[in-house]
Amino acid sequence: MPKSLREFEAKWSRRTDPLCFSGVWRFRELLPFAEPTQVLTIGEGQTILQRADSVAAYVGMKAGQLYLQYEGLNPSGSFKDNGMTAAFTHARMVAARRAACASTGNTSASLAVFCSATGLMRAIIFIGSGKISYGKLAQALDHGALTIQIAGDFDDAMVRVREVAGRLGIYLVNSVNPFRLEGQKTIMYRVLEALNWEVPDWIVVPGGNLGNVSSFGKAFAELFELGLISRRPRLAVINAAGADTFYQLFEKHKLRWNGGQPDQRLIDAYYHALDQENLRAATLASAIEINRPVNLSKALRALEACNGVVREVSDQDMLDAKAKVGAGGLGCEPASAASVAGLKKLRQEGVVDPNERVVCILTGHQLKDPTATVAYHSSDPKTFDEVLGQRGVRRASFANRAVRVPNDLDEIIKAIEVYA
Ligand code: F0G
Repeated sequence: MPKSLREFEAKWSRRTDPLCFSGVWRFRELLPFAEPTQVLTIGEGQTILQRADSVAAYVGMKAGQLYLQYEGLNPSGSFKDNGMTAAFTHARMVAARRAACASTGNTSASLAVFCSATGLMRAIIFIGSGKISYGKLAQALDHGALTIQIAGDFDDAMVRVREVAGRLGIYLVNSVNPFRLEGQKTIMYRVLEALNWEVPDWIVVPGGNLGNVSSFGKAFAELFELGLISRRPRLAVINAAGADTFYQLFEKHKLRWNGGQPDQRLIDAYYHALDQENLRAATLASAIEINRPVNLSKALRALEACNGVVREVSDQDMLDAKAKVGAGGLGCEPASAASVAGLKKLRQEGVVDPNERVVCILTGHQLKDPTATVAYHSSDPKTFDEVLGQRGVRRASFANRAVRVPNDLDEIIKAIEVYA
């Protein structure tokens, strides 16, 4: 075990070794469940932390205080690859031949990429009908995964995949798989590394199945216990308002980790009420369109360890924040922008101070969901309404509309002189 986090810097000079190149496995000592010879890597985790002053101004932070951790740079375009490399390593240790997941699209894309890149297992993917964006569906199909579209949503698909995996002995790679969460801890190690090993004040992350927040909390609790950091950052989890179980249970019903005994009756009663009213998750941020997060109790533990809070944001707020992130230099999908929209809310409430140092996690790439982006920037009211208006989005305050011109040199030049 390293005596200081700085010791990991020695790995940079050994980048020709895949275990030192990987943004996950160069921290191997902090997730020590596999022998080096067992590790399966495709070069995941080469991601960046970028200072984002224009986004800082948008959310009300001082310049230099907001950073975006861009996980869209992973091979499959989302943070999932950090966990998938760990799950695949474990799958190899137990000689699995088939792997399955239920997914809102990114876990399935990551599974499909890892299967096609390594040939280790056959991918079986469960998705809800009409619940997955085109970029992600394209990845599952292109990478050759067996794609099963069930008549239902993610929460239904999750129940079914657990049944099927149990019955057929298929390796499950959803974030109920603890090795996934081990891999995702490294997102936090890379944030610390990019900040020269200084701990930020806040980590802000979108919440869906609550794998990330659970994993981040574990990462910081362990580093603190090992004496490798002297304090822990605070965690903020951001739900979509249309899929806000964690917000409701934590902030409204005051559900807590309670030493490992969260109040199960409270949880059961909440889900029972959802069923009674036939309330399903509904948000444009399809990645986090989840009402029954599988990592609920681990997430409670994370919030306890890192003095966390939960907030919810509207689809409108997410899409506006997404446009600001894009204009600031990094492209993300709607769910990722929940982190920025949530930070804006926390600034307005005064929970986050403008002088604190904050890291928002951009979980997935812009090209994952081009439909929402194009509709937001469209000047055609019909396109806007079909994709966004019908889901309650009213404005595109930061739209960058295409300029239509005749195919005529003078007209084109005139347009450029007017607009640029
Ligand atoms: N952001 C993106 C882009 C995601 O794809 C997900 C989850 C999350 C945030 C939420 O992360 O589950 O750790 O709280 N996507 C899963 C999937 C559910 O199937 O791809 P979480």
